[in-house]
Amino acid sequence: MKMNRKIKKALLLGAACGAVLGMGLTFAAASKALDTKEATLAKVQDKLKEENKDLQSKLKQQKAVEAAAVLSKEEPDNWELVLVNNDYPLDKEYQPELAEILEGRSVDARIAEDTKQMLEDAQAGGLKMYVCSAYRSYDDQKTVFNETMQNWVNQGSSLLDAYDETKKSVAIPGYSEHATGLALDITSEDYQELDDKQADTAESKWLAENCYKYGFILRYPPDKADITGIIYEPWHYRYVGKEAAKEMKEKNVTLEEYLGVK
Ligand code: DAL
Ligand code: ZN
Repeated sequence: MKMNRKIKKALLLGAACGAVLGMGLTFAAASKALDTKEATLAKVQDKLKEENKDLQSKLKQQKAVEAAAVLSKEEPDNWELVLVNNDYPLDKEYQPELAEILEGRSVDARIAEDTKQMLEDAQAGGLKMYVCSAYRSYDDQKTVFNETMQNWVNQGSSLLDAYDETKKSVAIPGYSEHATGLALDITSEDYQELDDKQADTAESKWLAENCYKYGFILRYPPDKADITGIIYEPWHYRYVGKEAAKEMKEKNVTLEEYLGVK
């Protein structure tokens, strides 16, 4: 009997220990499961955040594409911010309403006043501006592209190299913002070469500093070729509207960056 009680006690103790151990193990397992669940949740959250970022960026790109698409319709709200580059072609049929600002040089009629004012103010300050190109149709662009390519070939480049070199400074027809009527190439009358030295002329310096007041930006700045797809062109100015031009100058961003597509 005495023995039985001892066995009973031992059994009870064993059972109690087992229960406590069991509970401990269950708790440890539950807590491990919780940790795993939390880690999985954190991963899902990170993934969602990434996906959200991707979606936001795609949305911005979409907006820019839409801006290009709606440019051909009448007076869309953001016509002056239209993005045309190697990734965003312009509708081949797009034909802006043009206004001639100088003999043989036309721009989108909506920017004619600001453009003329900019040129007049520069001339009034003693500068000699030369507008070497403004609106260019699809066919005009084809001519510029072919001529530039031919120059490279004449200098000894292979056709493939000539094409690659040309693409760095001349947009493929259909991908040039000159066809929007919102872009102009302006040089000094005394130095009409389209090269880096253009930036040293008084005319180029004045434009780079003051063009924003008239709604223009220097479209292809130095050190931004990886973003714009075009080398430094100290002569190519693009109308984006006064507000956007000021903001882009202050933030030192390209149109691609401003629109959030790069
Ligand atoms: N030179 C600029 C990139 C154009 O051809 O549109
Ligand atoms: Zn140009």
